[in-house]
Amino acid sequence: MVDIKEMFRSEIKKNSVFKNKNIVSPHYIPDILPFRDDQIKEIILNLAPALQGKKINNLFLYGKTGTGKTSTIKVVLAKMEELAKERTDCKNIVTTYINCRNHNTKYRIILKHINDLYKHDYVGYSSSFVYDKLTEYVRKNKIGLIIVLDEIDLIKDVDDTVYALTRANDELTEGSISIVGVSNNVMFKQKLDMRTKSSLCEKELVFPPYNANELTKILQDRVQEGFNENCVEDSAIGLASAYAAQESGDARTAILLLLRAGEIADENKETKITEIDVRNAKKKVEKDILLNMVSTLPEQLQYVLFAITRLTKSKNQTTLGPNSEGILHSGEVYNEYYRIAKIQGKSPVSLKWFKQYLEELELYGMIATTISGKGVRGTTTLIKLGADAGILNSILEPKISI
Ligand SMILES: Nc1ncnc2c1ncn2[C@@H]1O[C@H](COP(=O)(O)OP(=O)(O)O)[C@@H](O)[C@H]1O
Ligand SMILES: [Mg+2]
Repeated sequence: MVDIKEMFRSEIKKNSVFKNKNIVSPHYIPDILPFRDDQIKEIILNLAPALQGKKINNLFLYGKTGTGKTSTIKVVLAKMEELAKERTDCKNIVTTYINCRNHNTKYRIILKHINDLYKHDYVGYSSSFVYDKLTEYVRKNKIGLIIVLDEIDLIKDVDDTVYALTRANDELTEGSISIVGVSNNVMFKQKLDMRTKSSLCEKELVFPPYNANELTKILQDRVQEGFNENCVEDSAIGLASAYAAQESGDARTAILLLLRAGEIADENKETKITEIDVRNAKKKVEKDILLNMVSTLPEQLQYVLFAITRLTKSKNQTTLGPNSEGILHSGEVYNEYYRIAKIQGKSPVSLKWFKQYLEELELYGMIATTISGKGVRGTTTLIKLGADAGILNSILEPKISI
């Protein structure tokens, strides 16, 4: 009798370069994270006293997208919780993880916590009720609660949130609450109240971008587990690493490039992923990444970006010659932004805030700016779009009606 299941399995395998596609997903978190030893060490140093029942500092992790912040903190906290359970000489630790994209107010964050901790739905209860419920749980169970607020910059009332959680910790005589804030936005800290800044950023950790060699190693590990043997050419890995290193040093981009290249190879019934597949994957990945990035931008920043995109697009179409580089003056961008915000029925921000927005977009790598030399009109900020105007327009146009 033939092994039918096995035959099915080998049939599926035969038609795909993937052995286990999940491993090549950007959501997959490997147990071992190379090149993050220093960050792991620092996190442990900071959190370890909680295992002895001591209060610990809040922690703030930041760095660009794809530098391993989410993976690192999740891996470290899972191990910490495991250890606390295994050992009788360790205090009770409970760690929670929240992506603030989905829970973006103080109320929602605290509500999510008590719902999970009590396994009961408290929606509709007042803000002070849910707050008291949370502190009560920590006190009664004498736990060290460590709350990860990932993408913390997306919380609407972030100052209030940090303040409430810090105050809760200060009031507790038994148990403790501490926060690990995580942000892809390097500018975020500057927007906080002084008080929030000093309590959230008691200890800060930067996650630097990866270089091409580091990305190659990270990809090699994934290739080994995620793809069938001999299905990925070395040069394809090299190219994916080089692209990702050049763009931003972002492991997510590198992994997505391989994933899409694998899908392209499968579609074309190729048995091996080549450089050509990676090159073709790049266009798809660019759109994926821009889409993801744009969706995290606050509304007003989306308007500014849309203004830049529209102007760049129209310049590309109308200007030829030396001035066709798509370089914009901040004045014209501000006017266009102003117009767009008005049409949306929103009040445009002042020029000063607008300049802040430009800085933020630059940090995300969406634009590059320089100050022009002294000209007829004095100095002005020159702006150049860092992403493809066509792709960006196709993302923003359906979101913002004008
Ligand atoms: N050092 C590393 N080793 C292996 N994979 C990594 C490493 N750093 C990041 N990754 C992978 O890259 C992707 C993005 O990482 P993530 O932790 O989500 O970054 P961030 O939160 O900084 O945006 C994930 O699939 C993650 O597993
Ligand atoms: Mg993250």
